[in-house]
Amino acid sequence: MLELKNLYMTVYDENGPAKEIIRGINLVFEKGKVYAITGPNGGGKTSIAKLVMGIFSPTSGEIYLNGEEITQLNISERAHRGISYAFQQPPRFKGLTIEDLIKIARPGIDQLALRGTMRDVGLCPEDYLFRDVGPGLSGGEVKRVEIAQVLAREAEVSIFDEPEAGVDLWTIQKLIGILYSKFKNNPNAITIIITHNENILGICDEIIVVGNGMVQAQGTREEVWPLIKDDVECKMKEQCGELLTYEI
Ligand SMILES: Nc1ncnc2c1ncn2[C@@H]1O[C@H](COP(=O)(O)OP(=O)(O)O)[C@@H](O)[C@H]1O
Ligand SMILES: [Mg+2]
Repeated sequence: MLELKNLYMTVYDENGPAKEIIRGINLVFEKGKVYAITGPNGGGKTSIAKLVMGIFSPTSGEIYLNGEEITQLNISERAHRGISYAFQQPPRFKGLTIEDLIKIARPGIDQLALRGTMRDVGLCPEDYLFRDVGPGLSGGEVKRVEIAQVLAREAEVSIFDEPEAGVDLWTIQKLIGILYSKFKNNPNAITIIITHNENILGICDEIIVVGNGMVQAQGTREEVWPLIKDDVECKMKEQCGELLTYEI
């Protein structure tokens, strides 16, 4: 179980005034469930993920994993305890190949699993395994490599930050299938997907709406969907044109 208790975070810009971007977040994530975090841009979703991963430190509040307080642990200590995060905007690693990165994510991974993970995200291993994760890859390709690393980790807590962003429609459908088969009803996994995508929301057990640094709504798809339907459809049209309007 992952628990966020009364988290607050204030950031200080060089010139601007102090800004409280996380304002009293209390959340409990249980094993075996897939959670969606959604809500307006700038609402605080990525900041929550970064607080869980240890990239950001809260101003106050605590984070617990399976009863152990991890608030003071650094990123690698949290990774070691089984937390994995796929960035919304993944960094590039010039000089490292895709194979290198996946092997760093999952030391000792065999070739079959490595190639399978690449195919899961729509990257043909023959074409991509030895590609450098530098400027030669497109934004969508880097995004898929990032997702592949988290899939390969098979961590206890997997957080995906807008996996749909920059990824073409065909891959999104495939990705939803992979997320479903790997994480849905998986008793060993806590899965958190930050998303605006209606179809990804459709496979989640619980939806958390974050805005203005706070949890604004939380519940099952059926409970929360009426509250967010208009915003999600608007965002989908922005990203995909008029192509997709599904009912959950
Ligand atoms: N390191 C930072 N320094 C200053 N402001 C930040 C920083 N990170 C995020 N913010 C601000 O915090 C708010 C929440 O951002 P974010 O968590 O990225 O939202 P979301 O992922 O929901 O779009 C935004 O107003 C953003 O500009
Ligand atoms: Mg974000």
